[in-house]
Amino acid sequence: MTKETSKVAVVTGGTRGIGAAICEGLKDAGYAVAATYQGNDEAAKKFSANTGIATYKFDVGDFDACEEAVKKITKDLGPVDVLVNNAGITRDAFLHKTTPKHWHDVVHTNLDSVFNMSRLVIEGMRERGFGRIINISSINGQAGQAGQTNYSAAKAGILGFTKALAQESASKGITVNAIAPGYIDTDMVRAVPPEVLEKIVAKIPVKRLGKAEEIAAMVVFLASDKAGFATGATFAINGGQYFS
Ligand code: CAA
Repeated sequence: MTKETSKVAVVTGGTRGIGAAICEGLKDAGYAVAATYQGNDEAAKKFSANTGIATYKFDVGDFDACEEAVKKITKDLGPVDVLVNNAGITRDAFLHKTTPKHWHDVVHTNLDSVFNMSRLVIEGMRERGFGRIINISSINGQAGQAGQTNYSAAKAGILGFTKALAQESASKGITVNAIAPGYIDTDMVRAVPPEVLEKIVAKIPVKRLGKAEEIAAMVVFLASDKAGFATGATFAINGGQYFS
């Protein structure tokens, strides 16, 4: 694979799960990578020791914190060419048991973050005439999922954001795409009660959970120069579980 050595990539929620695989895929492709995280210092330390990838701790839902972090990343690595909005959390419950805090936490981390980080890099990308924004949505933003009104709404919101920003950015050398992973073998999916998860996996035509690397491979392609004609699209990678 051609190395894209001079480019800088930021991956939110980059120290675990899908985000960690994305960071490693981009690093292998030659990018200087910054991985952001919010809470799990131990996982971040381990990730950094294993990969040599720099980590930045802040709340992606907080605009001011994002602004400070983007400034620091730019100072450390250079202007951001590739932004992967991957950070996400779940607070699953049926709506009749969902609290305002469950709602706000999920929208804050999963959707406000996409505005915050994209807003902070878009002007530089427009000035330089190049950029790649890749938003990690979910099958549950496309199909909905019982127990996830908050998560499904935030992930669906990402799809609208992606299409609108793609239109704004197409003439500036910036592509904006979404990936909608299905059920991938990560801590987040492993937190689903086993009996519920078993039923979900039984309905996946390929009969297994996806691998984080299978999402990372698409991110590496979308970040590359070769993907310049792909924009505003949603790439579903879900083992055939849902055809949009
Ligand atoms: N569709 C419809 N009904 C469902 C359902 C579903 N998928 N899952 C459960 N139910 C029903 C149950 O059968 C049960 O009905 P009865 O009372 O009539 O028997 C009722 O809903 C309550 O179910 P639980 O006993 O499980 O209720 P609970 O309050 O203990 O838990 C829950 C509810 C937290 C939503 C739990 O069912 C759950 O965790 N479900 C999984 C949700 C899910 O898929 N989350 C994805 C996380 S991974 C992720 O989000 C990554 C990604 O992007 C793909």
